[in-house]
Amino acid sequence: MKKDFNELKTAIQVILDKNLSVDDTLQEICNYLQTTINHYDWVGFYFKNGTKDELILKQFAGEPTDHTIIPFGKGICGQVAVSNENFIVPDVSAQDNYIACSFTVKSEIVIPMFVEGKNIGQIDIDSHTINAFSAEDEVFLVAVNQLIADKFNTKLVVY
Ligand code: SME
Repeated sequence: MKKDFNELKTAIQVILDKNLSVDDTLQEICNYLQTTINHYDWVGFYFKNGTKDELILKQFAGEPTDHTIIPFGKGICGQVAVSNENFIVPDVSAQDNYIACSFTVKSEIVIPMFVEGKNIGQIDIDSHTINAFSAEDEVFLVAVNQLIADKFNTKLVVY
């Protein structure tokens, strides 16, 4: 069944409106997206680690990963930390600068999150299906990140 991204967006807003802590909210969003959307097999939020040029994994849903710290420039996530651009990878095996979390992952999408114009983190989603992500996922996830940034803004920066 095709997902209605508007309904999903409303569900994210409902989670945000519960006024939970940043941690609990992001965890609930990860759980919701990973269990609700079939092709979202792993969902996580990485944030800039203080003043360091590296990302640190905060909340996630799916298999635990060894890659809890990612230097800027490394892998898909590290590239997005530097480029500030959305990155859809239809086939991870075709990427040279890629950090494999599991051989089951076939495609990936990473969308940066901005607070006051600064790239402060990102949502990272892995799929076990090749070419799983479309422009619709991209638009949806940009909106999700924007809703989160609007709600918590600088609370996410000092995270
Ligand atoms: N594949 C990512 C690493 C993070 S995992 O997907 C959880 C990358 O290349 O940056």
